[in-house]
Amino acid sequence: MKFGYFDDQNREYVITQPDTPLPWINYLGCEAYFGIISNTAGGYSFYRDARLRRITRYRYNNVPLDFGGRYVYLRDDESKEFWSPSWQPTRHDLKDYTCRHGMGYTVIGSEYAGIEAHTRYFVPLDENLEIWQLTVTNHRAAKASISAFANIEFCLWDAQDDATNFQRNFNTGQVEVEDGVIYHKTEYRERRNHFAYFACSQPGAGFDTQREAFLGRNRGWDKPATVEAGQLTNSIAHGWSPIGAHQVKLELEPGETRQIVFVLGYHENPVDQKFDPPGSQTINKKLVKPVIAKYLDAKEADAAFERLRQYWVRTLGVFQVNTPDIHTNRMVNIWNAYQCMATFNMSRSASFYESGIGRGLGFRDSNQDLLGFVHMVPSRARERILDLAATQLPTGGAYHQYQPLTKRGNNDIGGGFNDDPHWLIVGVSAYLKETGNWSILDEPVPYDNEPGSEKPLYDHLQRSFRYTLERLGPHGLPLIGRADWNDCLNLNCFSDTPGQSFQTTTNKDGKVAESVFIAGLFVLAGHEIAAIAQHRGLATEAASYLAEVAKMEQVISEHGWDGEWFLRAYNDFGGKIGSNECAEGKIYIESNGFCTLAGIGVEDGKAAKALAAVAEHLATKHGIVVQQPAYTRYYIEMGEISSYPPGYKENAGIFCHVNPWVMIGETRLGHGDLAHDYYSRINPSAREEISDLHRCEPYVYAQMIAGKDAPTFGEAKNSWLTGTAAWNYYAIVQWILGIRTALDGLEIAPVIPKSWPGFTATRTFRGVVYNITIERKGEGNHIALAVDGKPIEGNIVAPPADGRKEVSVKGILS
Ligand code: BGC
Ligand code: NOJ
Repeated sequence: MKFGYFDDQNREYVITQPDTPLPWINYLGCEAYFGIISNTAGGYSFYRDARLRRITRYRYNNVPLDFGGRYVYLRDDESKEFWSPSWQPTRHDLKDYTCRHGMGYTVIGSEYAGIEAHTRYFVPLDENLEIWQLTVTNHRAAKASISAFANIEFCLWDAQDDATNFQRNFNTGQVEVEDGVIYHKTEYRERRNHFAYFACSQPGAGFDTQREAFLGRNRGWDKPATVEAGQLTNSIAHGWSPIGAHQVKLELEPGETRQIVFVLGYHENPVDQKFDPPGSQTINKKLVKPVIAKYLDAKEADAAFERLRQYWVRTLGVFQVNTPDIHTNRMVNIWNAYQCMATFNMSRSASFYESGIGRGLGFRDSNQDLLGFVHMVPSRARERILDLAATQLPTGGAYHQYQPLTKRGNNDIGGGFNDDPHWLIVGVSAYLKETGNWSILDEPVPYDNEPGSEKPLYDHLQRSFRYTLERLGPHGLPLIGRADWNDCLNLNCFSDTPGQSFQTTTNKDGKVAESVFIAGLFVLAGHEIAAIAQHRGLATEAASYLAEVAKMEQVISEHGWDGEWFLRAYNDFGGKIGSNECAEGKIYIESNGFCTLAGIGVEDGKAAKALAAVAEHLATKHGIVVQQPAYTRYYIEMGEISSYPPGYKENAGIFCHVNPWVMIGETRLGHGDLAHDYYSRINPSAREEISDLHRCEPYVYAQMIAGKDAPTFGEAKNSWLTGTAAWNYYAIVQWILGIRTALDGLEIAPVIPKSWPGFTATRTFRGVVYNITIERKGEGNHIALAVDGKPIEGNIVAPPADGRKEVSVKGILS
């Protein structure tokens, strides 16, 4: 069953039923001012940091699920009936309800009692504000008198404090209202120099800023007393809960359409210019007023929308493909790339599942996210790399997370996740391959943000690699530390205290438990750093990296191989994890996926065996589960993984992030059919028809799909912010379609299904447009390339030496 449809032409998903199984959300904003918005206008906004600069309030885990939002009410001033065109909060039976989630914008609307209304929400490029354009049309035969109300609830900036510290917060709220604009100035009197505002393009028939005045005593948002009565009360918030509400009266002739623009924004004043006049307590509005006036003009709003549209045409235009599979095309050309932007911006901080409070930017997450993002805006990728590297510790280890507002490592979580440093090598290598801009390696970057500790970025990569060499365990495999990619494999934790964090509790010395996954990652990162060293003319250094890689491959072969597949780890007692000898958790996806992705065992047949075992034991029709058999009880020596009921999350759920590792592994073995089959099993668009089972948005990846041990096998959870976006994008584009960035150019090595006659693609790479046509003439993966009609050796197309800005590449597969 579906709840909408894809409109690929307009790059939109159109939801046609408001009561989706879960809130289906979209993101507004792409640089500093952000919002999440659901299909019924739920959600909230923030500036840069979802915890520390929350502008509007949202109630996570509420019933009904999705509450707090950008709500509009319409009231028929004759019949006195009122409703919300976005369904929430009044939940009327609407005609022609649609929610169009597009690239950086959402349009929600419907018709009720002959009155059609749509609101387009978006954040203009380069501005710290959002625009709501409400269009109301009278389809009745008679004139209509309508009151339109727009409403938001302000958050008191720190979302954590806002949700917990009521003894203080019920006393701090303050607003100003000037020329019909509502200014939210809570705490502005003392240490803040920022405020929010909510403005309306039409002369208002009233406003409210005190929540209780708007709602009436003991009422909810579904039935505000003021809306029911048809008149706001011009209340001025003082303590309690400041809100913003505007009322506009419309007299609509039959067939007439009117538009009202609302602007909700954030502004920072220079500290020494906070007040006007100086010495008063009144906000200085001189700097913000022109911005507000500009965007309240519908023409300016339309122009800003057009700029946003063009931005996305350009950004997605960097890579476009046309294959025989619509789900591949749709995800690669539109939604998967779009999701990569959201994960780049948010890391794991703000979604319907991530409250924006607990987690900053993850070191391993953000480095991996670059794989799906770097081609879209390389300059922002560069900035992110330098920020991440600045939180690296002098040991080469890394803070696991940092706070986006301060860019400082998060002390509460600390470091000691022993895979972390290698992801920096992977991220930097992706940047170099994309841009060919080697100067990044010479950028001075501090350790732990300590002034004076700056070293070239390349030094950070060297320390990342050494970090593992200095932390090898009894078998010569890397010590796991607090956890590796699998945050829930906590082998040094042994926790029996309720509420203790599995990730930060460490009560073993960490000298025994080892990770085969990190060994695989070390091999991959070792190849990358060796190629970088070689390119920089450091041949001896490159050779030493390759020697370490070879040694590690040997160790994996001796101590990381279980006979039919790669082992996962050794625990603190030196016992095996992910072995046929284990009662539960005999085989894991991570070590098998990553080792084969890294090319380990491709030549001696181990990779083929391992992936055959994955196909036999882990693959299901809804994707590949993390491990089997699922843990049926808590194992203190394993940690959080065994805390989840079977089939969920790391305990044998389908973790979509790691499925692409197997897809890539399969391409390394030349298995295009199986690689694409695995890709399709978790492709959200290909799962659209089973939306009632899948439940999450059909246009973006979720972190997890319940595994075969769960009663809800096939049900997705935790959509949007997940490494799944980047890895699937990387797997399909760079390994299955095989259009792969390399240090020396664009590598073309498709491993596609045998039934595909070929495909075409355009790729802008280092300023050159590559028009690529792949044609299948035989069943294999051998490719013969011609550039502008001239055959070339090998499969790397170097940027044209003569400065041409467009080339055509033809590849014949046989
Ligand atoms: C989740 C992991 C997550 C970890 C750290 C665990 O509860 O299962 O997926 O990475 O928390 O936040
Ligand atoms: C989510 C975390 O953000 C990511 O870093 C981790 O690798 C996965 N969970 C698996 O545990």
